[in-house]
Amino acid sequence: MDLGLSGKAVLVTGGSGLLGSAIVRRLATEGAVPIIHYRSRVAAAHALADDTGGFALQASLLVESEVDALIERAVESAGPLTGVVANAGGWPGPPVQTRNLTLERWRTTLDQNLTVAFLTARAYLKHVREVGHGSLVFVGSAAAHFGEDGYADYAAAKSAVTHGLVRTLAREIVESAPHGRVNAVSPTWVPPSAHAEAAAEQRLKRALATVPLGRPATSRDVASVVAWLLSDAVAGYVTGEVIQVTGGMSGKILPRPSGEG
Ligand SMILES: NC(=O)c1ccc[n+]([C@@H]2O[C@H](COP(=O)([O-])OP(=O)(O)OC[C@H]3O[C@@H](n4cnc5c(N)ncnc54)[C@H](OP(=O)(O)O)[C@@H]3O)[C@@H](O)[C@H]2O)c1
Repeated sequence: MDLGLSGKAVLVTGGSGLLGSAIVRRLATEGAVPIIHYRSRVAAAHALADDTGGFALQASLLVESEVDALIERAVESAGPLTGVVANAGGWPGPPVQTRNLTLERWRTTLDQNLTVAFLTARAYLKHVREVGHGSLVFVGSAAAHFGEDGYADYAAAKSAVTHGLVRTLAREIVESAPHGRVNAVSPTWVPPSAHAEAAAEQRLKRALATVPLGRPATSRDVASVVAWLLSDAVAGYVTGEVIQVTGGMSGKILPRPSGEG
């Protein structure tokens, strides 16, 4: 199926990470020109750009001027942006029950996931206003829909993105671009490799307890839905939506009573 993305410039934030790189590669197979944003993975981002015929651009997505400049530099490199995938985000680390969650971690997690998404969207929407078209796809998380024990900060940040931001921006974008669209994907856990450690295997078992398809997501599962959502040709009448890439997950099993502090 032709997604109509050939020759189109698409920026992927966090484009050299686990999901970001799969999204970049998928877009490249559709003929798109990927712009790979990175923060610290310089070598990986440039190698991916070489592989895919794209461009690698560095920015901290928590510095307003850098985010605005990223969009400008992306346009200078590849021309008007057909879409942006706001994929960059940060997993907060070990689980912490909310009664013990520090304000510092709460703020960091909201910054890493919600503020980064907001600043990326704000910068891109200015460009959308100039060019009169655009498609924005956020990467959320299953945690936004089902909660995640030990991760109230992450679940709250991701649900703010996939619910509040997506629905509001889908309404606002059409003031600048009549056919502009804003959507999100919410993946379940994507294990980094097939060689999961013992602890990860335990986590996998728990994560899959309510998943009818019986396996975790792969980065390719996520990337193909992102590419589909970006495409006006196939998803041109889809906006304000969140697609769960969760194998049909219907919930999460409850934590053990003796769980983390
Ligand atoms: N992997 C999963 O199981 C999973 C499941 C559900 C949702 N997600 C979501 O999917 C997205 C990608 O996750 P991933 O697993 O691919 O993680 P990852 O490999 O760590 O990639 C995250 C990327 O975001 C970038 N980034 C984070 N904070 C940034 C900031 N403040 N400024 C600039 N760049 C920043 C990082 O850049 P550098 O590395 O260059 O520093 C990194 O490339 C995230 O939004 C995550 O929450 C992941």
